[in-house]
Amino acid sequence: MGLPKNKDKANFFSVAFDLISTEKSLSYELYVNASNQEGREHFVRIYPMNEALSDNEVEEFRDKYRTVYVLEEHRSIYLKSLTTNEKFTDERKTDVIKDSAIKHLTTLFDDTRELNTDILMETIENCRETVSAMVDVIEDYSVNQLRELIGNLSFHDFYTYDHSVNVSLYCVILLKQVKPDVSKEEMTLIGMGGLLHDLGKVEVPTSIINNTGKLSDEQFAVIKKHPGAGVRILMEKLADYPKKEDISTIMRVVGEHHENEDGTGYPKGLAGNDIHFYARICAVADFFDAITTKRSYSEVVTPNEAVTIMERSVGKKLNRQIFDAFSRDVVRIYGKKAATRDLPENFEPSVPHNVLPFTALKAQKLNYNILGDGEKKNDYGSVKKK
Ligand SMILES: [Fe+2]
Ligand SMILES: [Fe+2]
Repeated sequence: MGLPKNKDKANFFSVAFDLISTEKSLSYELYVNASNQEGREHFVRIYPMNEALSDNEVEEFRDKYRTVYVLEEHRSIYLKSLTTNEKFTDERKTDVIKDSAIKHLTTLFDDTRELNTDILMETIENCRETVSAMVDVIEDYSVNQLRELIGNLSFHDFYTYDHSVNVSLYCVILLKQVKPDVSKEEMTLIGMGGLLHDLGKVEVPTSIINNTGKLSDEQFAVIKKHPGAGVRILMEKLADYPKKEDISTIMRVVGEHHENEDGTGYPKGLAGNDIHFYARICAVADFFDAITTKRSYSEVVTPNEAVTIMERSVGKKLNRQIFDAFSRDVVRIYGKKAATRDLPENFEPSVPHNVLPFTALKAQKLNYNILGDGEKKNDYGSVKKK
């Protein structure tokens, strides 16, 4: 038994017994809460770093203790040991990584205390570590595999958190689809942009965020401020952030993810190449997640329906090159079927929906090739090899 250390619960996070690495020497310390008084924690080290832990010992811990903990300062080492261990499934790994991401988002969205420069800088660094662990697990995934993985992850109460993690994951994979030789640093950076894209929603009252009924023009005007608010927060608090270029890229994703290809978006009405490429990827990810991820009571669309619906926004809201890379992947698995419903042209992925505002599908000829070279499609149809 080690000495008691850091009694505060905030310095620890709990880990699942079956996700503790055995065989190799342990790269983090293990703690238990030895206090049986609720609200009065007394953390005690039960296993030191750099010693190999056996499966039997883990079993003993499981019998003896309800929960084991790892120090917050060892979180990134813990994540590394998790993602590099082939014994664990990607689903379990991603669940733990998602928990980390949610913890960081909770810090950012905590409106009970002021988000100061120190906290923000530290949280951004933590986000980088978390997203980098995420990239290790999912970098070779297709959009479809990713969608399935996301569907199996545990959900949290606050929609924005789940949504931000999903968008981050989709951003990484979409960038990889559009640019197959992309570096791990670039994937991590766009993943951070995706994770933080809705940061400005911290300034939108929860009554509006959770309002799934019809929003008034004033309420919608408040929602529309979130890209600008996110940029302002980053700019004000991170003036001294050492990795200036990274922050300016993240700021552009945060500020430009609701700009449209044709200049009809907000807040600035930027068009085409004036919108950062990562922000245009984020727009596709944002749209797709908003209509395919199941929320309470909300009806969602299937992936192939999502493609048909989103296709109508190509060139208006969405960038063609990015959409093509994305849809190619989805269509290859699910086939392209005619959707029976549509969403209005002015559909806003940033507005909460209790039920998606479906409309009847207008007949429309889809005349561009969403499949890759060497493949031909008939109108809605089956894929034929040349
Ligand atoms: Fe947004
Ligand atoms: Fe979003």
